[in-house]
Amino acid sequence: MSIKIVAVIGGGTMGNGIAHVCAQKGCTVHLIETQQNYLDRALGTIDKNLARQVTKGALSEADKAATLGRIHGSLSIDDVKDADIIIEAIVENETVKKDLFAKIDAIAKPSAILSSNTSTISITQIAAATKRANKFIGMHFMNPVPMMQLVEVIRGLATDDATHAAVVEFSQALGKTPITVNDFPGFVSNRILMPMINEAVYCLMEGVGEAEAIDGVMKLGMNHPMGPLALADLIGLDVCLAIMEVLHRDLGDSKYRSCPLLKKYVAAGFLGRKSGRGFYNYAN
Ligand code: NAI
Repeated sequence: MSIKIVAVIGGGTMGNGIAHVCAQKGCTVHLIETQQNYLDRALGTIDKNLARQVTKGALSEADKAATLGRIHGSLSIDDVKDADIIIEAIVENETVKKDLFAKIDAIAKPSAILSSNTSTISITQIAAATKRANKFIGMHFMNPVPMMQLVEVIRGLATDDATHAAVVEFSQALGKTPITVNDFPGFVSNRILMPMINEAVYCLMEGVGEAEAIDGVMKLGMNHPMGPLALADLIGLDVCLAIMEVLHRDLGDSKYRSCPLLKKYVAAGFLGRKSGRGFYNYAN
């Protein structure tokens, strides 16, 4: 595999999982954050998740130590300079992502592949903020990254075959199964998942059922491993709202309008597990 050095930008819910998996599979990883406390939290989460693998007998103590030794925390974007691939996992906002990639493009080596873990923003549009749209691609990992099999690989309009082939090979080397789709709002995963979650929030708002009832129906009746409201709490309600807003704006169909209750929760700072409260309470 030609990809050996990875820069992961953002160490939140997704970024720390991506860094964890890349390092566990032998890559050197630069994990880049904006503040020391966010970086400490990300590295602490990786340590805790690796420890859980050791407890389960899935990883040795030596492999855990080696994995942690391959992750270099950083607060400087300059540390993308030796990376073979840069994987961005920052806030789901097109302007912020474009600004970041314009900076990365100027620092990264010419051969480096640029990729975004965006849930729904157009890969083609983010790529246009760089001078290497041919080397830009979507790598949409699923949450929690160490557990989930899929990487949804999204080809932008200008993504070239060599970049696509390298990212498919890299995803497989990470032990994942890549599935390639084209660049449309929400791709395949969130085009289908997010309207379902949004509809579950409407059911809650309209009093069709309590959260436990809504989730129970979908778990027991549809064989979903998690109910849609618990899944929304895991994903982050701010991320869910951002995805619905892109689907609504870019597909222009009123069926994608965000549920007012989802907007209210986000406005209140009830973001799900990461804030301790969403449709369920995680205070303990
Ligand atoms: P998050 O809010 O948990 O983490 C984002 C992290 O990025 C924060 O720690 C923040 O400090 C950091 N950050 C922001 N700007 C930065 C910058 N300029 N440089 C370095 N770090 C920066 O967000 P989450 O949930 O990890 O989402 C990240 C991306 O992954 C988003 O695009 C989201 O749509 C996507 N995604 C999220 C999934 C989920 O289940 N949460 C699933 C799949 C994709």
